[in-house]
Amino acid sequence: MTSEKIQRVGVIGAGQMGAGIAEVCARAHVDVLVYERTRELSAAGRSRILRSLDRGVSSGKITEREREQAAWRLRFTTDLGDFADRQLVVEAVVEDEKVKSDIFSELDGVVTDPNAVLASNTSSIPIMKLGIATTKPERVIGMHFFNPVPVLPLVELVTTLKTSKAVSERAELFASDVLGKQVVHSADRSGFVVNALLVPYLLSAIRMVESGFATKEDIDKATVLGLAHPMGPLALTDLVGLDTVKSIADSMYEEFKEPLYSAPPLLLRMVEAGLVGKKSGAGFYEYG
Ligand code: CAA
Ligand code: NAD
Repeated sequence: MTSEKIQRVGVIGAGQMGAGIAEVCARAHVDVLVYERTRELSAAGRSRILRSLDRGVSSGKITEREREQAAWRLRFTTDLGDFADRQLVVEAVVEDEKVKSDIFSELDGVVTDPNAVLASNTSSIPIMKLGIATTKPERVIGMHFFNPVPVLPLVELVTTLKTSKAVSERAELFASDVLGKQVVHSADRSGFVVNALLVPYLLSAIRMVESGFATKEDIDKATVLGLAHPMGPLALTDLVGLDTVKSIADSMYEEFKEPLYSAPPLLLRMVEAGLVGKKSGAGFYEYG
């Protein structure tokens, strides 16, 4: 049972991350069922994935035929009840503990395989908090992908005090052998390895803009040209989403009570104003 190969995946949410995770699974020849709350959101999620597959074709990463086949492997539903036969579910909804806990609680009663992997792509919420929303926390694990999912090769694997060895081995094998990702392990601490390092840096850059230390353009230019980063911290905050960066900062602050994780007022105001970055058309920069 444990070694049964994962061939049926469920992805919950078809925003930036859910769409990316669904895409890489479909490209890896896996049957993918994607949940969204409404048919309109499902249609938007499907278009997002198809646009990305088109990009894969135009950059020569996949053939037209692979694109077609990947598209065929993707189905959408607005009913979580359809996830009963899934061997792996990756939850990728908004970074909100209550919303995620409710989903894990519902999934718990739906997914029948006792060795199914119930994974969260949360950026920062301790996985144990989601595990305790279920009656079988041994099935719950963190599988943290990176944005854009088709491009970045990392998955952080986060096991809790309750995650079973079988589930963690199954998740690791899927990430590495099926998706071809590189895996690192993190303790179940808010932010895991990458965001514990990244988020204080992003918040520091926002504080620099806020205090007039340097312009956003110069901060981004400095890190691209001086540190060889692919993009500067303010452009990256726009890519991640300011709402998501704020929620990550809030959960890390709740966990560690360190000022370096506290969200600066400029970030709060921009989120309140709906300037949440690339996905909304504007954040620190504007997007066409
Ligand atoms: N889907 C599919 N492919 C994509 C893509 C997408 N959304 N975005 C870019 N690509 C591909 C392009 O097709 C292109 O492929 P080729 O080189 O084969 O043509 C390649 O990626 C580079 O893209 P571009 O030339 O368009 O642009 P770029 O060179 O400026 O790279 C970038 C864009 C990949 C986003 C790059 O700037 C980058 O890696 N930035 C840093 C991203 C990063 O740090 N992500 C982590 C965020 S933190 C996180 O994810 C965790 C969290 O919990 C918040
Ligand atoms: P997004 O804003 O693009 O998508 C949010 C998703 O959550 C959508 O599918 C939306 O329909 C759904 N959603 C919103 N409110 C909901 C509710 N009340 N009930 C159910 N579903 C709801 O966000 P994203 O960037 O895709 O982030 C999703 C998850 O992935 C978050 O946990 C985030 O922390 C994590 N993550 C994000 C990034 C990133 O760079 N954006 C990277 C790694 C992990």
